[in-house]
This record gives sequence, structure tokens and C-alpha cells, in this order.
Amino acid sequence: MAVTQETTELANLVKTRRSIRVWQDKAVPEELLSQAIELATWTANPGNQQNWRFYVVINKNTINALADAVESIAAELNSWPEIQKITPPRPASAPPPRKPGFFRAAPAIIVVGSNNIQTPQDKALEERGKYDPRATLIREWRNSANARLQTIGGLLALLCLALHKAGLGAVWMTGPIQAKGEIEKILNMPAGMDACLLMPVGYPAESPETRGRKAVAEICEFVR
Ligand SMILES: Cc1cc2nc3c(=O)[nH]c(=O)nc-3n(C[C@H](O)[C@H](O)[C@H](O)COP(=O)(O)O)c2cc1C
Repeated sequence: MAVTQETTELANLVKTRRSIRVWQDKAVPEELLSQAIELATWTANPGNQQNWRFYVVINKNTINALADAVESIAAELNSWPEIQKITPPRPASAPPPRKPGFFRAAPAIIVVGSNNIQTPQDKALEERGKYDPRATLIREWRNSANARLQTIGGLLALLCLALHKAGLGAVWMTGPIQAKGEIEKILNMPAGMDACLLMPVGYPAESPETRGRKAVAEICEFVR
């Protein structure tokens, strides 16, 4: 296959993107964020239902409320002996750990929500599952694909690239979703809308080294 200018440019864009967790203290134009979100919405999605909603938080008080909620849940977890037992001790020489609410320093936070829509097929299989275990099994197989979260994954992959192309740095984070209830309350998200991730965005103030990727031969097989 011939390597075109376009594929080289795409590879360059993809491979120079990094998760950015330190930002300049500089506002991001709303227009740039809107443009990146618009591009991301061109992702493939089931039945073109476009089952997503973006909450772009630029209000400092709201960003602080989100960070406080995430830190509070993390502190609650850390007080539990079951969690303490599995947390390895930190060597004294190690740098202090990043706070769970480190993203409060970002000028913008994108939270992506998705509605938990039950398809007519799911409803029919649920009905039949009341007397037919095969229907329950097939329903489980269908649900294991979690098309809703796969869709958010595709959306976010494009969003990361679009933000990177615009010179912005972001990190895709599901860790804060352990404060899901609080996040949804702070953002007044309607019932049935699930907060799926939180993505702080800003102009990068770090350029992390790549952590590399496994070779294709290691993670791919051709079924000939
Ligand atoms: C679904 C998902 C969840 C993630 N959650 C977190 C998170 O909670 N906190 C965090 O700092 N980074 C998070 N990351 C970022 C990964 O740590 C990062 O993508 C990975 O280390 C590879 O580094 P790179 O993005 O710079 O290539 C997440 C990434 C993905 C795709």
C-alpha cells in the first residue's frame, strides 16, 4: 500500500497525542471546543441515534465543585480497610501522588453523558426471558457488547484527536466516575442520563514522553 501524505499526517496526529494533566492558566476559546465536539460527532454510532450529550464546564465554581466531589469520594474509599489493604505503600522517595481532583486546574472540563435507552429487541428478549433461559442468555450476549459505551469510545477517540489538532491537551478519565451521582447532580443531568467520563482540557503545560504501544504482531492475528 502506498503511503500518502494524508496517511503520514494522520499517523503523526495520532502518534503525537498524549494524555495531558497539566495546563496553562489560559482560557480556551469556546469556539475551539465546539469545533472539536462537532468533529467528534461524526463517529459511527448505532442507528445514527447520536445518543450523547456534552456538558462543557468553564465555570470555575462548578469545576471546583466537581473536583471536590471526586476528592471526597476518593477520601471516603481510602478510609476503608478493604481499600487500604490493597494499596501498596509508597516509597518515601516517590513524588507526592497526584490528587484525584487535580483537574480543578484545567480551564475547561468536558463531561459526556449518554442515555440508557432500552431497544425494542431488548424489551422483547426480557419478556421472553421470563420463561426461556435461551432468551436471557442471548440478551446477555447482546448487552456484553455495550454498544452505548463503544459509541462513547469512538466519540472520545475523535474528540481527543480534534482537540490535539487544535493545539489543546486533554485527558480522558473514567476514574472520577466513582463520584457519578454527585457529578450528575452538580450538572443537573436529567434522569436516565449517565455521566460516562470527565475530560479536562486546556493548553498543555507539559509534554509527556510516549509510553509506546505493543507491536501489532503481539496483539493481532489474521484468521486466514
Ligand atoms: C477509558 C479510559 C479511562 C481513563 N481513565 C483515566 C483516569 O481516570 N485518570 C487518568 O489520569 N487517566 C486516565 N486515562 C488515560 C490513560 O491513562 C492514558 O490514555 C494511557 O496511559 C496512555 O497514555 P496516552 O494517552 O498519553 O497515550 C484513561 C483513558 C481511557 C481510554
